[in-house]
Amino acid sequence: MPLVFRTLLFGFVTLLVVVLIIDDIAEVEEETANNGHSKKMNLHQLLPKPHRQAAAHADPTTLTRLSKDVNRSSPNYNNTAKLSSNNWTFNKTLSNLIRKNILRFLDPERDISILKGTLKPGDIIHYVFDRHSTTNISENLYRLLPTASPMKNQHHRRCAIVGNSGILLNSSCGPEIDSHDFVIRCNLAPVEEYYRDVGWRTNLVTMNPSVVQRAFQDLVNEEWRDRFLQRLQSLSGSVLWIPAFMAKGGEERVEWALRLILLHTVDVRTAFPSLRLLHAVRGYWLTNNVHIKRPTTGLLMYTMATRFCEEIHLYGFWPFSLNPQGKPVKYHYYDTLKYEYTSSSSPHTMPLEFRTLSTLHRQGALRLHTGTCDVEGRPQ
Ligand SMILES: *[C@@H]1O[C@H](CO)[C@@H](O)[C@H](O)[C@H]1NC(C)=O
Ligand SMILES: *[C@@H]1O[C@H](CO)[C@@H](O)[C@H](O)[C@H]1NC(C)=O
Ligand SMILES: *[C@@H]1O[C@H](CO)[C@@H](O)[C@H](O)[C@H]1NC(C)=O
Ligand SMILES: *[C@@H]1O[C@H](CO)[C@@H](O)[C@H](O)[C@H]1NC(C)=O
Ligand SMILES: *[C@@H]1O[C@H](CO)[C@@H](O)[C@H](O)[C@H]1NC(C)=O
Ligand SMILES: *[C@@H]1O[C@H](CO)[C@@H](O)[C@H](O)[C@H]1NC(C)=O
Repeated sequence: MPLVFRTLLFGFVTLLVVVLIIDDIAEVEEETANNGHSKKMNLHQLLPKPHRQAAAHADPTTLTRLSKDVNRSSPNYNNTAKLSSNNWTFNKTLSNLIRKNILRFLDPERDISILKGTLKPGDIIHYVFDRHSTTNISENLYRLLPTASPMKNQHHRRCAIVGNSGILLNSSCGPEIDSHDFVIRCNLAPVEEYYRDVGWRTNLVTMNPSVVQRAFQDLVNEEWRDRFLQRLQSLSGSVLWIPAFMAKGGEERVEWALRLILLHTVDVRTAFPSLRLLHAVRGYWLTNNVHIKRPTTGLLMYTMATRFCEEIHLYGFWPFSLNPQGKPVKYHYYDTLKYEYTSSSSPHTMPLEFRTLSTLHRQGALRLHTGTCDVEGRPQ
């Protein structure tokens, strides 16, 4: 194809995707950080349906024919073809192609955080999911905005992204996870009591505002404040990634956390994702015919990690209540939360994400670890 034509085509497809994204955003159910209560917006009626159809079929990359393998039938671990692990080989060509395509939608080095130069205290931000609600940039948040991307010039050969599924329990994967050059964890998940199965090492960890409530009792008393502070201090130098502007309701919790960080000069590098990150990530997956409602933190991390990592290994990704042998699996390895993805109120489409990742695993673009590891730290 001549370059001009390709450019035009790409422009056209991008436009369609933007329309589709706007359409879909209107449909996204909100998950307020307060109480998990969700409500549905109906703005999508304002947009004509044909756009959705057209964009859904646009696939400028035709790179990974994901849609072919991603079956949208009901969530069931039996649907996922066996993940071969003993003969998995990394496909560097494919991984490079995926990186290149993701870079068309977002630059993770930039979108991983808003920078200091772009905002000032008192600036008003519209929440990504609750567009009609706003928040002000507080003095504390401003002080903790990075001046340069916390991932600037970072390149790693092997990265691990650790999801929080109970599939990790009794896996003995700790040493193997820690052997990676860069380890990403989600939602400030505890490691201390579980290090045999999940490892210690943390280079980047995410923290949804709701974690302050769910895991640290909204810091109601000294004891919980101490626990929270200890968890933050244990991060020594890691990137703490706080999606502060996704959904309304979390501003107080973010503020408490930031105040503690400043007060105790906690050694973390705070990062606050750009307002366009989520839409761009969804745009990438939609263009590959993966119709996620709202990407989970895990998928967001994978999408961003492609920028910084050669080989990406995923642990603790398992959105099913039974393991491949039919034994029960906890939703999180560390708490008693129950599976909610099947309920229509959940904004995530975890089984679909999992099938997508399984497909990428089979193609050699990433490696999903769902079994046990041997104690020597060698992959099984
Ligand atoms: C998807 O799953 C359904 C039900 O299990 C099956 O009938 C169908 O053939 C599957 N499609 C593909 C493309 O695998
Ligand atoms: C999954 O498959 C196994 C055997 O392949 C079977 O014993 C089990 O009942 C199936 N589970 C479900 C939920 O379909
Ligand atoms: C890898 O193993 C799986 C099942 O164990 C098998 O279906 C597949 O053909 C193997 N692939 C290669 C390249 O050997
Ligand atoms: C790696 O991926 C590329 C691009 O999808 C494909 O053309 C190639 O055949 C793959 N290589 C192997 C060894 O599977
Ligand atoms: C947010 O900023 C607006 C405009 O600067 C101001 O009127 C409002 O009082 C601020 N709200 C808070 C909570 O600081
Ligand atoms: C892990 O192993 C211990 C000891 O063998 C056992 O009691 C426990 O039930 C296992 N937990 C899971 C989730 O398999």
